Amino acid sequence: MKKLSLIIALLLAAKITFATITIIPEPTSIVESSEEMTLSQNIELIFEGNKELANQALGKNFKAYLTKAGFVIVTKNASSTKIKLNINAAHEIVEEGYELAVNKDGISCKAKSVKGAFYALQTIKQLLPARYQENYKINHCEISDQPRFGWRGLMLDCSRHFFSVEDVKAYIDLMAEYKFNVFHWHLTDDHGWRIEIKALPKLTQVGAWRVPRNGTFGSERAEPKPKEKASYGGFYNQTQIKDIVKYAAERNITIVPEIDVPGHSMAVLAAYPELSTKKEPHFVSPGHKFAEWYGNGEFKMTTENTLDPTSEAVYEFIDKVFTEVALLFPGQYIHMGGDECYKGYWEESPEVQAFMKKKKIKDAHALQSYFVSRVQKIINSKGKQMIGWDEIIEGGLTKGATVMSWRGMKGGIEAAKKGHKVVMSPTTYAYLDYMQGDKSVENYIYSSLSLQKSYEFDPVPEEEGIEESLILGGQANLWTEAIPTLPFALYMTYPRAFAISECLWSAKESKEWNKFMSKTQVHFDRFEARKLNICKAVYEPIVRVYKEENKIMCELTNPVSGVEIFYTINNTYPVNFGTSYQQAFELPTGSYKLRTQSFINGEAVGRELIISREDLVTRIQ
Ligand code: ACM
Repeated sequence: MKKLSLIIALLLAAKITFATITIIPEPTSIVESSEEMTLSQNIELIFEGNKELANQALGKNFKAYLTKAGFVIVTKNASSTKIKLNINAAHEIVEEGYELAVNKDGISCKAKSVKGAFYALQTIKQLLPARYQENYKINHCEISDQPRFGWRGLMLDCSRHFFSVEDVKAYIDLMAEYKFNVFHWHLTDDHGWRIEIKALPKLTQVGAWRVPRNGTFGSERAEPKPKEKASYGGFYNQTQIKDIVKYAAERNITIVPEIDVPGHSMAVLAAYPELSTKKEPHFVSPGHKFAEWYGNGEFKMTTENTLDPTSEAVYEFIDKVFTEVALLFPGQYIHMGGDECYKGYWEESPEVQAFMKKKKIKDAHALQSYFVSRVQKIINSKGKQMIGWDEIIEGGLTKGATVMSWRGMKGGIEAAKKGHKVVMSPTTYAYLDYMQGDKSVENYIYSSLSLQKSYEFDPVPEEEGIEESLILGGQANLWTEAIPTLPFALYMTYPRAFAISECLWSAKESKEWNKFMSKTQVHFDRFEARKLNICKAVYEPIVRVYKEENKIMCELTNPVSGVEIFYTINNTYPVNFGTSYQQAFELPTGSYKLRTQSFINGEAVGRELIISREDLVTRIQ
């Protein structure tokens, strides 16, 4: 008997590990049984409780999703699968939480609010196949679910490349399916101003357009020629912005607009050069080389991109911008950027230095702090709260400001220790513009971030003495210098956004890499069925080259269970059943390429990597 219960316990444990229910982010609790419900193509939606709220939760998009997936919405049909939605304020469930059951009668869910019901519906989408399949079975289960953090964000940079209204909506649509609730919209930068401000028409007439250029952003692109037409770019007019705000709200997403000041302002200065320190003519950067980077975060701007913090005209400008921004975006936060502000032009200006002396401002950090506190007052005067990148702490930060920590977690830790609210968004785990696979197959960017590393993100630092309630949550950021299209933006965002969503929604204890990865494999297929781009670099070998005594050694690893790596160093394809990688090997001298490919059960997965010995040698660690 004892033996039998042990076997049952082991089977149950195996069931949990190899879940047939593959929800991302992992729900708080799933009790799954082996009984199954067969899904009909006909779906009947039944509202219990507050019908008006149920209709709101459904919006237009749930029915549209089902129809696109090949299901038919019916009323009163004996053979249909019933989806029952019950919203009742009296339910003892947190606002964004829900309870859901699958049994022989269909799928039923309960929530207290539209938000919770919306998330129940996202879970239902993932219980169904991405495209209708005959005889599809869903295990009976009971799910209860609620998020770990209230701020679950993704940022899209629409300045470095302009994304159309339809692109932005598609990006929002998908993030809502993975239960993100903040869309941080990076609307201004050196490469384009993207939001119509009626009181300042030149911002979009001039600032939204740059001369067209190809070639690597930030290095290979030439500055504009005299009288060259600035024809590449675009902006969102206020009607379009209101439309996107409404679209996001219907998906439980709050938009946090970012107007990045006082740095990253080349597009502003192209329109209004009088707001700079030097007051010379400016152009919108086409991605030309405008800074020297010294590799430790230090840099020197070679084209001015900074507002003059001593000029009252600058604060009048900021007031006009935030007056309109505050009216367009109903959320409580406005992001004022504040990152990477180069202070060299301030330091060189006799007028700025005289101002600092008069006001007893001791250095450039304190001057930035003066600027930030004035911007905060303007934002607060519009009934909004200010959030900014972690540089805003430098030189001191006024009470009430929220900090978004990107240079690791340290800025967030320092801010939380001073009592500020914090959103963690560190490069180490959450920078989606970084390469997610080997540089031989990815679009080259100066840094890498693997799916597995993203999955290790925990916004709550281990550090002692942090008031946990000050950590609002976390966010991943997609900077788009090298990302000109939506399909490529999706490729860079997913699957790492799956990992981030699980880090922000799911209970910390429920995170488990192997289980997450087996669910991700199912979601790869879901994306493919929907013709959505996604990156499968996680399957590919991770190549490490190092020296051991006088030998150059090569190590190939991969974090996915079941992956077997094959390789050759004789310029032939690394066929399945060829040389299976077992241990690090020496790279002999000669002119050849390492060719390596992952396989699962005899099927090639991911891309083949082909790397010359010459290149491998440059990678020695
Ligand atoms: C940033 O990545 N400059 C916030």
